[in-house]
Amino acid sequence: MSQTLLTNATLACIDDSSGYGLRENAALLVDGGRIAWIGSTRDCPVSSANTAINDVEVYDCAGKLVTPGLIDCHTHLVYGGDRADEFERRLEGASYAEIAANGGGIVATVMATRAATVEQLFEQALPRARQLMSEGLTTVEIKSGYGLDSTNEIKMLRVAAMIENELGLRVVKTFLGAHALPPEYADRSDDYIDLVCNEMLPAAHAEGLVDAVDVFIESIAFSVEQGERVFAAAQRLGLPIKAHAEQLSDLGGAVMAATHGAQSVDHIEYLGNKDVALLAQNDCVAVLLPGAFYVLREQQLPPLGALREQNVAIALASDSNPGSSPLHSLLLTMNMACTLFRMTPTEALRGITINAARALGLAQQIGSLEPGKLADLVVWNVDRPAMLSYRIGMNPCVAVMQAGHWRKSGQGMSA
Ligand code: NIG
Ligand code: FE
Repeated sequence: MSQTLLTNATLACIDDSSGYGLRENAALLVDGGRIAWIGSTRDCPVSSANTAINDVEVYDCAGKLVTPGLIDCHTHLVYGGDRADEFERRLEGASYAEIAANGGGIVATVMATRAATVEQLFEQALPRARQLMSEGLTTVEIKSGYGLDSTNEIKMLRVAAMIENELGLRVVKTFLGAHALPPEYADRSDDYIDLVCNEMLPAAHAEGLVDAVDVFIESIAFSVEQGERVFAAAQRLGLPIKAHAEQLSDLGGAVMAATHGAQSVDHIEYLGNKDVALLAQNDCVAVLLPGAFYVLREQQLPPLGALREQNVAIALASDSNPGSSPLHSLLLTMNMACTLFRMTPTEALRGITINAARALGLAQQIGSLEPGKLADLVVWNVDRPAMLSYRIGMNPCVAVMQAGHWRKSGQGMSA
């Protein structure tokens, strides 16, 4: 395989420090799909003068910013229909929880998802994935959770696998059978959890479609004890676990998940400061989802001060879904995290790179620019990283490399 050399780049390596890991006038050599070397442009191991000998493609970045490929570690990208009608109802005064209690919300999307074919779900999800990719996305997590029976959960996860094949995007597939109670199990939530643990999860796992298992722990979804049963079933199959927790109230789901070894706890606006230490002790990533906070006009802020004090890794994700976060932009997610949560642009960029990789258990492979890691990177037409969080509605992505292959031509770059 040929090599690619980027020269004159402003690299945001997102190294082990808590900063950007900035290197000016830097060069980066890609070999065999991985980063082989990083140094100053002056010290390049190969140069444009001997490309013919070395079979090296050289790209002069002319000072542009290069970051790791972006990672969206929490999405519900595959679903049928939309919920624009609920958006209107909320504006007329109904709350998210009231709509859910009246057969709307997640269950409305379940009906539309069950009614759709694999092909229809795929066609509907593709533009959403492409939109995220246009801003430098190289890895996305996609959850099931709108099927709520074996057939339909498996159908959703298949679509996630089809997206990976079609787009060459890295897709992490998460089973979220315990997302909501399907109407046929009304008032029988323990029976539904039995079905999730004994049939749905093993069936999806047997098809090779499950990389991790998630549970929605909330008054409108499942209890801490029910979540614990799902985690036990996941761990019997050797699967990593994570939770939607403390989104609308403090039930103790995040603490339970962290103490069971969860990769991440997601949302956590209602997590108490005193409980944050448990996340740190268990190496559990806090995934903040400003899109849902914004859409639901939440007031309760996540415990950012305590997360910082305890050195908990903070990731950010779009939570792209038809109800609480119809958001298809990681750049806007970064801006929202800064504006709404008062995160710094440095934290925001680390949140969609290295810390998102940690939330998916992939930090050995992706999330930073380091020799040995996969060559997933983005070239941006900006000179410094804060530009990515600061501007709203501007996409400066000029080129994306995934595992050593350019996805977009090097538009705006001198090759
Ligand atoms: O992450 N919190 C639970 N699940 C989604 C909402 C899904 C929906 O409303 O359809 C979330 O916000
Ligand atoms: Fe979610």
